[in-house]
Amino acid sequence: MQRNKIKPDTKIPRHIAIIMDGNGRWAKKRFMPRSFGHQKGMERMIGLMERAFRLGVSYVTVYALSTENLKRPQEELEGLYNLIRKHFKENMQRVLRYGVRLKVIGAVELLPDDVQAILRQAEAETAHFEGKGVNIALCYGARAEIVRAVNCAVEKGEKVTEESFSALLYTQGQPDPDLIIRTGKEIRLSNFLLWQSAYAELYFTDKMFPEFSDRDLEKSIVWFSGRTRRFGKTDEQL
Ligand code: FPP
Repeated sequence: MQRNKIKPDTKIPRHIAIIMDGNGRWAKKRFMPRSFGHQKGMERMIGLMERAFRLGVSYVTVYALSTENLKRPQEELEGLYNLIRKHFKENMQRVLRYGVRLKVIGAVELLPDDVQAILRQAEAETAHFEGKGVNIALCYGARAEIVRAVNCAVEKGEKVTEESFSALLYTQGQPDPDLIIRTGKEIRLSNFLLWQSAYAELYFTDKMFPEFSDRDLEKSIVWFSGRTRRFGKTDEQL
């Protein structure tokens, strides 16, 4: 087992969200197909989740496929679906045995039926777990999530508060992400958790996702721990 390099006084984020960017570039640099990058990305995703839960993180959200990504060539999309078909069950079991509730966030209905069934089954099997969760964002877009919530409120005919509106989002009942990590050199949120990220600390790294190691995750947490989160207050008020 890897030694925990994090000091005991390190503040551990309750919820970490990761934009897993750079699989394609990582593979290209190695003269390999993009699908190889996604395969490595899948392995890294599972490894990082395990590490995060061992460190005491309660929620991990990963951006696996955006609404915009659905415009990618069908072959690449099929490759991603095949990863879910072939590896999801056994690999995710490794994470879910930590007593973690799995949620798929996004327009799941746009996925092939058999993939939806695999994901729905994993959701159902873990639905009784509380306090720890994994959200996999698939066919996800934050603006679409917000519009969906607005329409829901309109249908109910009720005015919303920040709290009641949050309860209409996919992440209902979960703490907002404290730390958002983006690999792959880009410095933007790309329509990810726009409402929930209001007070998140944002960590950007040049590393491509398949090379973002457990040690890199720890480094990002140590960086997070050193941030002063004022939530609009002054230092003296904290
Ligand atoms: C972005 O890198 C990554 C994706 C669009 C897919 C992320 C998927 C995984 C990490 C594997 C896990 C998969 C599932 C379905 C749970 P990119 O391909 O845009 O890389 P690039 O910017 O270098 O081209």
